[in-house]
Amino acid sequence: MAIRYRDCRFPYKELPMFQQITRLGLVSALHQEQAGLIESMHNPQTVSRGMRDYVAGNLWGMDTVCVLSRIGKVAAAATVATLIERFDVSHIVFTGVAGAVDSDVQVGDIVVADSLAQYDMDATPLFPRYEVPLLGQSLFASDKHLTDRLADAAGAFLARDLDAAIPGQERDTFRLASPRVFRGLVASGDEFIDSQARQLELKSAFPSLLAVEMEGAAVAQVCFEFGVPFAVIRTISDSANEASPHDFMQFIESVASRYAFGVIKRMCEMGSRLPPA
Ligand code: ADE
Repeated sequence: MAIRYRDCRFPYKELPMFQQITRLGLVSALHQEQAGLIESMHNPQTVSRGMRDYVAGNLWGMDTVCVLSRIGKVAAAATVATLIERFDVSHIVFTGVAGAVDSDVQVGDIVVADSLAQYDMDATPLFPRYEVPLLGQSLFASDKHLTDRLADAAGAFLARDLDAAIPGQERDTFRLASPRVFRGLVASGDEFIDSQARQLELKSAFPSLLAVEMEGAAVAQVCFEFGVPFAVIRTISDSANEASPHDFMQFIESVASRYAFGVIKRMCEMGSRLPPA
């Protein structure tokens, strides 16, 4: 049978050639994880909402809204919902630090999340352990293309910028000899992990787990519910053991902001076009 003109579908009309980051939401829990970025913004405009300052402006060519969520899943969820609903961001990146759970992952390495879980979600016996009730899933995948972009930016930062970003003495202090980028599972909960025993419990619950932190999976759930592409990047500040409180404080004061600044700069400079979703 002949195909009538109006039935024809032209691929170039149906398929977008790329995904565009029209406005990037950039979230961190703590000031030290985002320091320097707001100072680099062109035309920053601040709007305060729900005890948080949302700073909109241009970062190396990218329309961006920066905000500090504070610590924990509720804080992160509230911040991200506001970013989406009131600031109309098209994509979200969460940048911060995490404790290593995998023995290959060391302080100074970067973990980019492919998927995230809430390790403290437990509505048993009503729902399976770790499953978010009524959503029917326990793992939330990050946006592949945004995650690829972030991992590329992290690799470029470590290979080309680290030596200039962090003085040799501090690289020695934190044993940042040749940090690496890992991709995989990150788990979040409202708990700072500072014991080897607890770390082992989490590792046995999630054998492929790379790192733990306190916000990423909440960001993932909200972004999933709103259909907003997101990515989570974490610099390893400690090894989720008894030394963690000390290691975390030292790392966050001296190193964390320089990683975040360097990686986000690289990412923005790579431009706002991503392959189609
Ligand atoms: N963020 C950084 N280190 C952490 C840890 N050990 N536990 C939870 N969140 C963290």
